[in-house]
Amino acid sequence: MVRRLGFAGLLVVALLGQQTAQTANILAVFAYSFGSSYVLVKPYLQNLVQRGHQLTVISAPVSYMGDIEGVQHIRVESLKKLSKDLEEYDYETEMTSKWAEASFVADYFYNCSKLILEEPGVRSLLQNASAQFSMVILEAAHTDALYGFAKHYNASLVGISSFGGAWNIDFLAGNSAPSVYEPMSALGFSRGLSLVEKMKNLIFISEERLVERFIYLPGQIELYKRYFSFDASSLHEIRKKFSLILLNQHFSLGRVRSNVPNLVEVGGMHLSQKPEPLSAELQGFLDEAVHGAIYFSMNSDMLDKWLPPNMQKTMLNAFARLKQRVVWRTTFQTPNESNNLYVRPWHPQREILNHPNVKLYITQVGLLSIIEASYYAVPMLCIPAYFDQFKNADRLERLGMAKTLDIYALDLEEVVETIHELLNNDSYAKNAKKLSMRFTDQPMTPMETAIWWTEYVLRHNGADHMRIVEQDMSLMQYYSVDIFSVLFGRIGLTALIVIFLGYTVVTIALRTTQYHLRLSIPVVT
Ligand SMILES: *[C@@H]1O[C@H](CO)[C@@H](O)[C@H](O)[C@H]1NC(C)=O
Ligand SMILES: *[C@@H]1O[C@H](CO)[C@@H](O)[C@H](O)[C@H]1NC(C)=O
Ligand SMILES: *[C@@H]1O[C@H](CO)[C@@H](O)[C@H](O)[C@H]1NC(C)=O
Ligand SMILES: *[C@@H]1O[C@H](CO)[C@@H](O)[C@H](O)[C@H]1NC(C)=O
Ligand SMILES: *[C@@H]1O[C@H](CO)[C@@H](O)[C@H](O)[C@H]1NC(C)=O
Repeated sequence: MVRRLGFAGLLVVALLGQQTAQTANILAVFAYSFGSSYVLVKPYLQNLVQRGHQLTVISAPVSYMGDIEGVQHIRVESLKKLSKDLEEYDYETEMTSKWAEASFVADYFYNCSKLILEEPGVRSLLQNASAQFSMVILEAAHTDALYGFAKHYNASLVGISSFGGAWNIDFLAGNSAPSVYEPMSALGFSRGLSLVEKMKNLIFISEERLVERFIYLPGQIELYKRYFSFDASSLHEIRKKFSLILLNQHFSLGRVRSNVPNLVEVGGMHLSQKPEPLSAELQGFLDEAVHGAIYFSMNSDMLDKWLPPNMQKTMLNAFARLKQRVVWRTTFQTPNESNNLYVRPWHPQREILNHPNVKLYITQVGLLSIIEASYYAVPMLCIPAYFDQFKNADRLERLGMAKTLDIYALDLEEVVETIHELLNNDSYAKNAKKLSMRFTDQPMTPMETAIWWTEYVLRHNGADHMRIVEQDMSLMQYYSVDIFSVLFGRIGLTALIVIFLGYTVVTIALRTTQYHLRLSIPVVT
């Protein structure tokens, strides 16, 4: 079977072992305060250790990522507090505008960087003159203050983008072209096929750039100056010095983009990790599912209390009308209403998706869910709730392996009908299989690819030759405005820039005003 030919983990080491390895001291810094991103990076770190590199890893506590043998761990216990902040934040009432949202996110990442940099273990590492690193690996975006580690150790900088490609990642890698063609956000952001869509994307990116410059970067720069004692201009310099960025995506999964050589797609690299086995009980439950089984999980980071209150009930009622057995991952206290329901707060997800009786995966479609469902060829019912999930759902629907429902308007009849359609119309399973075949058809596994390019950077002292010689790429070039100038000529271009800047300023002003209005004045309709 094709799916089993895939990414057998142990082979990675064996295959790469033929190349003479130059081992190095590597520092990895991951400020994630949620588990799913560690699912992605842990196998990568493990493989680097197996290749003989000496790793020091700064990360959240053991409960987020277990110890890796042979690694010197520096745990930042205080990152736990951040998960709590996220849990307790009132999204409904507080995220009322782009600026409110941006301020919250900026605040969150400021806290991430700060907690790492003030951790005593990290302080003493920075003060230890005999600690030397030739490479620093971190999440590419959002915690810019941490780039200071690379400057402090004069080390090559390698980023992992666990959310895949985006305009800010393109900027870091010097990848000027793709953003305008690409959807980046859930907020009504389209694929950039027509000129109007490209314009919209351009405006959106400009807004994001303003947000980055004025809301998010100042805090990171302050931390960078405070904890590393370098000046701000050197941070802007490092932001153009990424040797390599590993993107958690793959073109075969329906998102094609042009990448410069130092942007490498490694989506699926976590699949090199041996999956957790099924318990005997769950194995039996799935084996005996004569009408097939459904896996329902709203993602490990998804706190059940954020879900709309009626969702659990609607889904339970829908499941009660199915012949199929359902494995449900939830922390929600649910009675075992029928013999067809298996409820736990955690499940060995990959082995469930790999079970031949599992015919459908119902989820809110995070990036890792897409990768796993595609790999194991399981059709999906998408119920997106946040961030990139809407565009993920849209992508899967276009690939013909999924259908999408609105989380805030779940209707019992519609849920049952959609599930029936996904189970009975075999076009979804066929398309899922096709997708799986092309995703696993790669010259090297994603993990081998990730390790190979990482060591390439080590072998070539930072591999500066992989970067586009863009020196100070101007704003106009970065926004690909030159493309538009060809279309519109000079006068058109000038008008375009005026309109676009005007529009950006006005929309931002409007949003901010609305936000303030909502806070201070009762709305009359
Ligand atoms: C950041 O930390 C401050 C101070 O500890 C706290 O008041 C704030 O709620 C935190 N913000 C976020 C988004 O975590
Ligand atoms: C400083 O770093 C060296 C090399 O990594 C290590 O052997 C030593 O124990 C460290 N010293 C302290 C005080 O942490
Ligand atoms: C930093 O590293 C580069 C090569 O990686 C080297 O050419 C340069 O001399 C180093 N700078 C310092 C101050 O050690
Ligand atoms: C459902 O039943 C299983 C045993 O079949 C039990 O272990 C589990 O705790 C029950 N779940 C709930 C939420 O009651
Ligand atoms: C199955 O689904 C596909 C794609 O949505 C649709 O084109 C086709 O008509 C469906 N077949 C049946 C028998 O409903």
